[in-house]
Amino acid sequence: MSFDKNKPYNNLPLLPPQIEVETKAVLKKAILAREALGRLTAANRRLPNESLLVNAVLLQEAKSSSEIENIITTNDKLFQAAVSETKVTDPATKEVLRYPRALWRGLELVQARGFVNTPTLIEIVNIVKGNTAGLRKVPGTAVVNGQTNEIIYIPPEGESIIAEKLKNLEVFLNTTNDGIDLLIKMAIAHYQFEAIHPFHDGNGRTGRIMNILFLVQHGLLRQPILYLSKYIIEHKNDYYNALRDVTERGAWEAWILYILEAVEKTAIHTEAKIEAICALMASATEQIKRDLPAIYSHELVNELFRLPYCKRDFLVTAGLVKEKTAGRYLMNLEKIGILGATKVGREKLYINKKFYELLKS
Ligand SMILES: Nc1ncnc2c1ncn2[C@@H]1O[C@H](COP(=O)(O)OP(=O)(O)OP(=O)(O)O)[C@@H](O)[C@H]1O
Ligand SMILES: [Mg+2]
Repeated sequence: MSFDKNKPYNNLPLLPPQIEVETKAVLKKAILAREALGRLTAANRRLPNESLLVNAVLLQEAKSSSEIENIITTNDKLFQAAVSETKVTDPATKEVLRYPRALWRGLELVQARGFVNTPTLIEIVNIVKGNTAGLRKVPGTAVVNGQTNEIIYIPPEGESIIAEKLKNLEVFLNTTNDGIDLLIKMAIAHYQFEAIHPFHDGNGRTGRIMNILFLVQHGLLRQPILYLSKYIIEHKNDYYNALRDVTERGAWEAWILYILEAVEKTAIHTEAKIEAICALMASATEQIKRDLPAIYSHELVNELFRLPYCKRDFLVTAGLVKEKTAGRYLMNLEKIGILGATKVGREKLYINKKFYELLKS
């Protein structure tokens, strides 16, 4: 192979890989991962509505995915910023908040176009980064070891080479009659995207958003609720090593197994989280019915579990109360211990503490 880690890898092979990637071990693991995904979808469908938790879970993912890149915000800052009118000044929190926007825009584009393509990926990275840089035009981008600054990988250089490799990736992603299992395809495409590294920055996050778009596009997920970043943070060295080993040794099997394991474990984790949230919703329902029967409604409980923070406007917008009574509702919910009040700027926010703790886990 012609890989030299000190030179741009312009010979990055096009897809599909020229070896048999669907080994017995890979196929076995793909089955387990798909089963776990199926159970996750089923759990999510038991919620009052399938998109109930989407925004809350996505904020959590935005935090983790950005954390891989050392863009650090806290759950508190992030969740408050997501609901508050107070202007966000912390740059990391701002950057993390752009991530959900990028994902929603990506889903919108995939729905409209029916596939993931280069313009979509460019729009995503531009939203994530809050600029209009687009594809890399100048040399000098490298993946380096964060501790030692040693070069690990230099991606292909030259706009036309990058565009050509992306086109090939796009064709591979959108070819569904080549017999490659969709989850395995996602794993291969994720490596290839990271190896092309088409942007100056934001490749990791854009590549992880691309995975979700792919799963939703092909119906492996009905809602964007499977996020691998937590798993990746917990197994970050393996993530980096496995990517590197595909480049250096063509070690596709280990890479694909890594991603399939990430999918399986994350689906199991997310399913358990949804079950726990369902149980929490049931007990909150009981409590409100008992202690505050006059204000109880199914829709009120749903609103309390849409995001971990709630405020007067939310109840009004949801059509539950008039402006004047919203405050009283929230104060009563605080009195019975379901919510806790906190001030952000001049605004009063109410946290659903137990829900918040579950989301974080
Ligand atoms: N050896 C490698 N070859 C190709 N890609 C790699 C390699 N090691 C890591 N990567 C990818 O590069 C990403 C980092 O690239 P970049 O800084 O452009 O993205 P980011 O979104 O800013 O960061 P991050 O992914 O860390 O959040 C990693 O997340 C990983 O996906
Ligand atoms: Mg970066």
